[in-house]
Amino acid sequence: MTRPLIHSLEARYYTDPEIYKKEKEGLFAKTWQYAGHISQLKDIGSYFTFEIAGESLFCIKGRDGIVRTFYNVCQHRAHQLLKGEGQTRVVVCPYHAWTYELTGHLRSGPNINAVQSFDKSKICLSEVSTEVFLGLIFVNLDPEADPMDQWFPNVRSELQGFIPHWEHLAPLEWVEIPENCNWKVSVENYSECYHCSLNHPTFSTGVIRPETYDIQPQGYCLRHTTECNSLDQMSYDINSGFANNDKYSSWFLWPMFSFQVYPGNLLNTYHWRAMGHDQVVVYRGWFSRDGAENETVRKIAIQDRQTTVEEDIRLVESVQRGLRSRGYVPGPLVIDPKCGVSSEHSIQALQGWMRAAVPEA
Ligand code: FES
Ligand SMILES: [Fe+2]
Repeated sequence: MTRPLIHSLEARYYTDPEIYKKEKEGLFAKTWQYAGHISQLKDIGSYFTFEIAGESLFCIKGRDGIVRTFYNVCQHRAHQLLKGEGQTRVVVCPYHAWTYELTGHLRSGPNINAVQSFDKSKICLSEVSTEVFLGLIFVNLDPEADPMDQWFPNVRSELQGFIPHWEHLAPLEWVEIPENCNWKVSVENYSECYHCSLNHPTFSTGVIRPETYDIQPQGYCLRHTTECNSLDQMSYDINSGFANNDKYSSWFLWPMFSFQVYPGNLLNTYHWRAMGHDQVVVYRGWFSRDGAENETVRKIAIQDRQTTVEEDIRLVESVQRGLRSRGYVPGPLVIDPKCGVSSEHSIQALQGWMRAAVPEA
């Protein structure tokens, strides 16, 4: 039986500001998004602010040690509560000084007792679903969201096998990479290796054996696996004393985050922040023990920025220009029934999720 051709997503998914607006509601506000790292919340009352789907939010550590996330808005007359990052005993609104506990409950407000029926126990900041996943904090604006373990089956336990020291890891560096393209162009580029042998010269000759590379859906995770060549040529010592130190592996969590582990159990991450319909910032996170200075990690981060990252920026920005062309008709994806490095079955999965998020487009 011949299989029908699967065509790539229509260009307007990447170029139409209206579709981007719908994605904010239907996708960014309904998926697990990276907020920050647990090392940013060392003490009780430590907090940091951030933005998801155009919403200002903040994570804060309670007296019970629990990390909570709230919309950054006062329940009185909507002033913003916190800016940047810091530490506080209580959250005080800068407008009329309503004061909230670290659990979000209203504690006091000037003259509120003058209002007879004022029941402060009924007033609480709006909380957002939050999960700490191997030290990384994720939030989901959908109150009905399933837990991450359901979205991304087995990912937590697999990662524990690759970074058994995850509790001691903290970010050493965030490399910020602005790209002039729709976030999906960048995410798709990350999620296939059909382009790798031509565009990443170190890929075919490096530690990875391209003929063993594959990317398979695992729930809403795209799982990258590969075998490695002999690791004698590695530029750093991979003897970490942990299992899996001779492997490279990656877990992309739909829609905008990826864990990668390099030989030597070196954790690095990607996360994407859409800045508009044709702009995205990619953050490359590089982790070390306690976030301490580490020459090896710094060197790899620089090398990665100068090679793979640079090569990919050129690709995704050219694609974005092409998607604006009236001459572009979406071509068939190259789907090899045997999968493997030169197949775009992972793009088929990704574009299926993209279509489902904004179906009427
Ligand atoms: S708006 Fe926050 S106290 Fe009035
Ligand atoms: Fe690439």
